[in-house]
Amino acid sequence: MSFVARCATRPFRGTAVRGFASSAARRQAVPTEKPPLVKEFKIYRWDPDQPDKKPQLQAYKINLNECGPMVLDALIKIKNEVDPTLTFRRSCREGICGSCAMNINGQNTLACLCRIDRVEAKDSKIYPLPHMYVVKDLVSDLTQFYKQYKSIEPYLQNPNPPEHGEYIQSQEDRKKLDGLYECILCACCSTSCPSYWWNQDEYLGPATLMQAYRWIADSRDAHGAQRKEKLQNELSLYRCHTIFNCARTCPKGLNPAAAIAKIKLELATE
Ligand code: SF4
Ligand code: SF4
Ligand code: FES
Repeated sequence: MSFVARCATRPFRGTAVRGFASSAARRQAVPTEKPPLVKEFKIYRWDPDQPDKKPQLQAYKINLNECGPMVLDALIKIKNEVDPTLTFRRSCREGICGSCAMNINGQNTLACLCRIDRVEAKDSKIYPLPHMYVVKDLVSDLTQFYKQYKSIEPYLQNPNPPEHGEYIQSQEDRKKLDGLYECILCACCSTSCPSYWWNQDEYLGPATLMQAYRWIADSRDAHGAQRKEKLQNELSLYRCHTIFNCARTCPKGLNPAAAIAKIKLELATE
């Protein structure tokens, strides 16, 4: 009974009923194309093959209505459609590989996780990660960063492996690695750290130190004492002055400063 009543008041799709047909026609008449939303991106350019040319900011205008929502989408659009010489790193486009780290509007972050500010009047400024040598345009030289990461021996070390080949770890011990293992080594934190800017040759920086702690905290690793011993010097660790720039900028929401504080505490209480 109620079904019949509903059907009587609501015509089936496609039924020609006066009033409905004319409103559908009215809807069709409304133009669907949005007016362009033009945004200017000012992007750092420097080419090692043109050493006489100084670094400069080059402006590109993009219609945001024809572009994906993230800064990486805009960079890819510029490279594909406007200027194929624009150089930047990227791979996963979902915050996993860490390769699209750059400085966007004053903040170190991942271009693939950074939404374009859609305020038309405001331009967006994009630079490579600060205080690093530049390979080209937005590509920073991470040689030293990876060398430092290698120096902490970022792998499980245990001279007495379990008989059956599987390291057993309690849930509590496993939990101690949360907030540490998720690091994607994008270098946003280290390149936002003033201590790292000025002492890059000796100070390991927040990303590497957090990974050092990740292995110190791992119950399956037997080299904690040696790992800590290596950090017990004035420069590798103690250049951190707990300013928290690293935690503020990490695009994965991690807190390297807290990990550094834990290393200091462990060294102080030994
Ligand atoms: S701690 Fe965060 S900012 Fe630093 S390297 Fe890891 S993911 Fe990047
Ligand atoms: S808390 Fe330490 S590691 Fe983090 S930005 Fe400050 S000085 Fe650098
Ligand atoms: S492209 Fe991989 S993190 Fe951005």
